[in-house]
Amino acid sequence: MADKNQARDKFGSRFGVIAAAAGSAVGLGNIWKFPYIAGIYGGAAFLFVYLAFILAIGLPVMLSELIIGRKSQRNAFGAFKVLAPGTPWKYIGILGVSAAFLILSFYGVVAGWSVQYIILSIQDGFSNRSPEQIASLFTTFTTSPIRPVILQLVFMIATGAIVIIGVKKGIEKYTKILMPLLVVILVGLAIKSVSLEGAKAGLDFLFKPDFSKLTGEGVLSALGHAFFTLSLGMGTLITYGSYIQKNNNLVRTVIEVTLADTVIAILAGIAIFPAVFAFGIEPTEGPGLIFVTLPNVFHQMPGGFLFSILFFVLLTVAALTSSISILEVVVAYFKEEFNISRKGATVLATILISMLGVLCSLSMGVLEPVKIFGLNFFDLMDWISANLLLPIGGLFIALFIGWFFGRKKVEEEVANGGKLSGALLSVFMFLVKFIAPIAIAIVLMNKVGLLNFG
Ligand code: TRP
Repeated sequence: MADKNQARDKFGSRFGVIAAAAGSAVGLGNIWKFPYIAGIYGGAAFLFVYLAFILAIGLPVMLSELIIGRKSQRNAFGAFKVLAPGTPWKYIGILGVSAAFLILSFYGVVAGWSVQYIILSIQDGFSNRSPEQIASLFTTFTTSPIRPVILQLVFMIATGAIVIIGVKKGIEKYTKILMPLLVVILVGLAIKSVSLEGAKAGLDFLFKPDFSKLTGEGVLSALGHAFFTLSLGMGTLITYGSYIQKNNNLVRTVIEVTLADTVIAILAGIAIFPAVFAFGIEPTEGPGLIFVTLPNVFHQMPGGFLFSILFFVLLTVAALTSSISILEVVVAYFKEEFNISRKGATVLATILISMLGVLCSLSMGVLEPVKIFGLNFFDLMDWISANLLLPIGGLFIALFIGWFFGRKKVEEEVANGGKLSGALLSVFMFLVKFIAPIAIAIVLMNKVGLLNFG
């Protein structure tokens, strides 16, 4: 056993842990997905529900995942076999590995779009174009059958390559440097966007809630997105937790990562919505929202040419530090449960996921007419994973920690050999035992129609 522990990769430093976990959390979810679903579900009302879920459910579930990972020193599936041998808890891990397949399949597609926008930025493809032309640029590209598929594959190969290099050399090194730069760029964009004429309507949209606009679907999406944006509910942070050293302060890690993730999503909102209104774009535009909005801002900025290149490069890097954390869930599972080498496991997982991804990409264009439950393949992968698999995973992770693992072991793992205030522990246990599971159950049941809040 000791040998096995020795052989596991570990994050090298405290900052490395934060960078890797924040690198996983901060990604397309914050900058691409948050604005577009907030736009669909009414802006501020969505934002406030989402923030409430982050606090009441996201924080405690994140701590739960890190505890499970660090205590067990295993992948998302193996962790439950170690902590709860002979019980069905391990199927949470299977759920997680499945969610990883679905999420990465559409994630890789959007990351491919981001790569295309680096290329367009370099070619100066946005200047002298009207908002309409910029919008049709997006549609023409995403609906075409070949180029987006190729760029998705390029991105997936890059993801696989970093995962093969391994945790410390691969994951930790790249995240550390580039995350802070992304924040700087976003702040610059937000300042420009807010100073556009007509920006105020966008700020009102984002910050002045009209709760009458909120639907059951909107609440479910806010819950799903709270999980998605923090990388929760499928074992990413169980897997990363298993690489965290025993002396790391987990509570602090959780708070710092959540704060960074939330600030970046809100910054993205401030960068995007004022511009959406200033340029007369519909907030309900959908997955293309940032791609049809931001280029308009860039070509009005001094230095916009460089700014837009830098922005899409950093967006791609942020996507990469997230995609590696999704792929790592599958790789750690294949590697430890089936005794395949890291390299073999990565190649296998990357190929399988990329194949699903090709379907996602084509479903924007040639396969658009094929609908399942009224959704194209891309939206279906997103909907099932974020709104169903992640909340269900999170529900069971909270129940596991609250009712099976228990207060005493939580304290041992979290206190790193001492000093945890009893009040904090009680609040945490209350959240994982009752609040998180009940809230998730209500939102899901409301959606399925077992309960009806409209
Ligand atoms: N949180 C990332 C983002 O916002 C995506 C992500 C990484 C993720 N790992 C995950 C989502 C695990 C769900 C589960 O872009």
